[in-house]
Amino acid sequence: MIVLIVGQAGQVGRELQRSFSDFGEIVAVDRESVDLADLDQVREVVRRVRPDVILNAAAYTSVDRAESEQDLASAINAEAPGLLAEEALRSNALLVHYSTDYVFDGSKLLPWTEEDAPHPLNVYGASKLAGEEAIRQVGGRYLIFRTSWVYGPHGKNFLLTMLRLGSERERLSVVDDQHGAPTSSIALADVTRSVVNQVLDGRCGAPDAWAGVYHMTCAGSTTWCGFAKAIFTGAEHLLHGNAPVVLPIASSEYPTPARRPRNSVLSNARLKQRFGVELPAWEVALGDVLGRLTVESETIAPKSH
Ligand SMILES: NC(=O)c1ccc[n+]([C@@H]2O[C@H](COP(=O)([O-])OP(=O)(O)OC[C@H]3O[C@@H](n4cnc5c(N)ncnc54)[C@H](OP(=O)(O)O)[C@@H]3O)[C@@H](O)[C@H]2O)c1
Repeated sequence: MIVLIVGQAGQVGRELQRSFSDFGEIVAVDRESVDLADLDQVREVVRRVRPDVILNAAAYTSVDRAESEQDLASAINAEAPGLLAEEALRSNALLVHYSTDYVFDGSKLLPWTEEDAPHPLNVYGASKLAGEEAIRQVGGRYLIFRTSWVYGPHGKNFLLTMLRLGSERERLSVVDDQHGAPTSSIALADVTRSVVNQVLDGRCGAPDAWAGVYHMTCAGSTTWCGFAKAIFTGAEHLLHGNAPVVLPIASSEYPTPARRPRNSVLSNARLKQRFGVELPAWEVALGDVLGRLTVESETIAPKSH
């Protein structure tokens, strides 16, 4: 079994390497070795490695910067996944790809299902939706997991940003009118592994029965402000009792180049129904990640007065 992990240095890519470590031979590549903006490199690596499973955790993920780098976002998030799907089909490999809650416009009050019509508000969401469509058009053995608000012990994410800012400031203003599900990269990788296992051991039958799009987020929901408050409550020990005061603000008070959906909570019912798996509640997953940071926390400095 050969597993090709694309995007090995990213939050999810790192956790996939851990989760799939006993799966067989892991070939993990980063941007230095395979640039997704260069389709020849993408084709070359798949043909050389001849993977049984391709896990694509690489993406153009700078939501605001994408507004001014539309072509690059499209090349990485739409064209490259389409080519990965073609190469997977050609070699009968399984392609696992991640997409985003930002394919939705946030107008629905209930959690979004896979049947709901996507309507991205920003360039990043549109590029990811185009990636989904490119994969779907090719077909074959593919799984697209839409996830949301990803954070973990490594990389660039909201949790680590809050901990850094929290160690520097007395007060933080955080947006309180966008609703979503913070999702731990650890839980995401572990549940991905479980689904891939089921598909590979034949339990799920032919691709017609399982290939497609699934929502895959931690359970429950909150706002960025609610997430920040939970982080500081759970991380008191990391901040040596100096947690900042978190003040709720409206999105209009924190203008960004890219618009974001007000409600991007996803329903995970299809994932549970099809594969019998679910991610933990976001609060539980947060506790797990914070627990790991306790061990690795030398980088979180106390506030200097
Ligand atoms: N982060 C979130 O909140 C979130 C939410 C919903 C969905 N998702 C999706 O989840 C997946 C994993 O996201 P993540 O949070 O792990 O992202 P991440 O931490 O930003 O990692 C993305 C990885 O992609 C790599 N990459 C970017 N451009 C590349 C290129 N041209 N060629 C090769 N590699 C390239 C990056 O390399 P460098 O390190 O060199 O930049 C980075 O290692 C993505 O599909 C993302 O769209 C993420």
